[in-house]
Amino acid sequence: MLRFPGQGPRNPDDVVVGPLDLAARVDEALAVQALAFGLGADEVAVRRQIVLRHLTYPGARALGATTVDGRLVGFVYGMPNDRTHWWSTVVEPYLRAQGRDAWLDHSFVITELHVHPHYQNHGVGRSLITGITDSATEPRSILSAIDTDSPARGLYRSLGYEDLARQVLFPSAPKPYAVMGAPLPLRRR
Ligand SMILES: CC(C)(COP(=O)(O)OP(=O)(O)OC[C@H]1O[C@@H](n2cnc3c(N)ncnc32)[C@H](O)[C@@H]1OP(=O)(O)O)[C@@H](O)C(=O)NCCC(=O)NCCS
Repeated sequence: MLRFPGQGPRNPDDVVVGPLDLAARVDEALAVQALAFGLGADEVAVRRQIVLRHLTYPGARALGATTVDGRLVGFVYGMPNDRTHWWSTVVEPYLRAQGRDAWLDHSFVITELHVHPHYQNHGVGRSLITGITDSATEPRSILSAIDTDSPARGLYRSLGYEDLARQVLFPSAPKPYAVMGAPLPLRRR
């Protein structure tokens, strides 16, 4: 299902990963996230403002997974970490308690990664996250994921991400998160 530009015959379910103008396609991206992650309309409206603000931060960038007829079925975005960003201020005390807050410096943060359920488990998520981190100049990457044994956590572990802190509570998020970090480039299979 995952193919690369110029490769082989095309079929409607084929997906190509490449640069994404996320500001222009934020509604499509959030529709994917709503299906993949289970967001309601109110949460989508809030996330929309947050994504558009994130895209103004230095170094913020996105990759998309698109079908041959142009439908967006997955995306990732992130940016170099900045300790003054809200996400970093929330996780910092948890990392500091583990003596691991140096991970917040010179680190590329994966802010969101989502793949439409119909397209999951075909290597699209792996291709998105390795693609975006391959273009990072930072020596490491960090992210947070719900602290449970999910496909996301399995994927991150297989790419070399390790737990830096667990049971991290974000204001207004009902479930605790794990903060994970990996050296770059991410591990290949
Ligand atoms: C996480 C997500 C983006 C992965 O995308 P994907 O395209 O399905 O992932 P890939 O096919 O590239 O990789 C699948 C990998 O996930 C892991 N995985 C998949 N299902 C798994 C499961 N049930 N348990 C553990 N690991 C699992 C495996 O490591 C697998 O690697 P493999 O190819 O060696 O088997 C996708 O599942 C998703 O959108 N989930 C819902 C939203 C979400 O949780 N986003 C992350 C927020 S932190």
